[in-house]
Amino acid sequence: MRTELTGKVAIVTGGAGAIGKGVALGLAAAGAKVVVNDQGVGLDGAGGDRSAAQLVVDEIRASGGEAIVNTDSVSDWAAAQQIATAAMDTYGRLDIVVNNAGNLRDRMFFRMSEQEWRAVIDVHLNGTFFVSRAAAPYFKDQQSGAYLHMTSTSGLIGNLGQANYAAAKLGIVALSKSIALDMARFGVRSNCIAPFAWSRMTDSLPTETEAQRARVAKFQRMEAHKIAPMAVFLASEAASAVNGQIFAVRANEIMLMSQPRPVRSVHMSEGWSAQSIAEVALPAMHSSFMALERSPEVIGWDPI
Ligand SMILES: NC(=O)c1ccc[n+]([C@@H]2O[C@H](COP(=O)([O-])OP(=O)(O)OC[C@H]3O[C@@H](n4cnc5c(N)ncnc54)[C@H](O)[C@@H]3O)[C@@H](O)[C@H]2O)c1
Repeated sequence: MRTELTGKVAIVTGGAGAIGKGVALGLAAAGAKVVVNDQGVGLDGAGGDRSAAQLVVDEIRASGGEAIVNTDSVSDWAAAQQIATAAMDTYGRLDIVVNNAGNLRDRMFFRMSEQEWRAVIDVHLNGTFFVSRAAAPYFKDQQSGAYLHMTSTSGLIGNLGQANYAAAKLGIVALSKSIALDMARFGVRSNCIAPFAWSRMTDSLPTETEAQRARVAKFQRMEAHKIAPMAVFLASEAASAVNGQIFAVRANEIMLMSQPRPVRSVHMSEGWSAQSIAEVALPAMHSSFMALERSPEVIGWDPI
């Protein structure tokens, strides 16, 4: 089972953030050369600090690894091409793409603006497509490659005030599945991680009630670097049989997540009317309806 990555070249987008830094350091420790991509922006997209990615590169180099900084935006088609080009120009190949860059514009759906919607779709869903697509010709030519995308239980299960983020994150799951299907013929794999980690993305969680404070205390114990081993595994040859899957990772726990399949089927030989759907189909299917739940209600047990 080869989990080491000597000779491999990886891109980690958002590689200076909490989870991205851990993944970049983990890939480098496993032997990969890493393009640490990060715009160094705030959660609201403001700023732009190259030093954030530079610090991660410095840490990798200090440990004897190889890495370069890239500050192009994932949410721009041409800039995303340059992220892949940076890997090719510097290291001559590309083997691993970790789509991890992220932002938030939380707002209840009925107040969400067009700008808040587009900003989040741009970084998460468009960014994941743009960077993945930029790497595709190289993966296809060399007949190998591993994509890893960060999704979220916000999309997989549900959360309040995150219509933009949830839609983007579930879109990423469908994109990952499509990449897995379209590129399996070239020996390329695509998987998702739904991470749980204390970071600036989670430090804005409300702490007004006792239940909210307990939830935050739980999150604070989920260290961001704990996501890295799963990322290294999925990038490695040991995961050659793993394709189109979704894993949730929090602290020392790994969950294999389900994917939608039919749970009940009803058939009416003479065809359905609205009335017969109400009288026959609904009673037959009702007991199998998915509850309208949020992620913390479904994954309510203690991670540690
Ligand atoms: N922290 C969690 O519990 C959690 C839960 C579910 C999903 N995730 C996902 O994991 C990923 C990492 O999250 P995190 O908690 O480490 O957040 P983070 O804010 O610490 O890191 C995100 C990084 O992305 C960078 N970035 C933003 N826009 C960019 C752009 N256009 N181009 C390049 N870089 C850009 C930021 O500068 C930042 O360093 C995100 O995709 C997030 O949605 C995190």
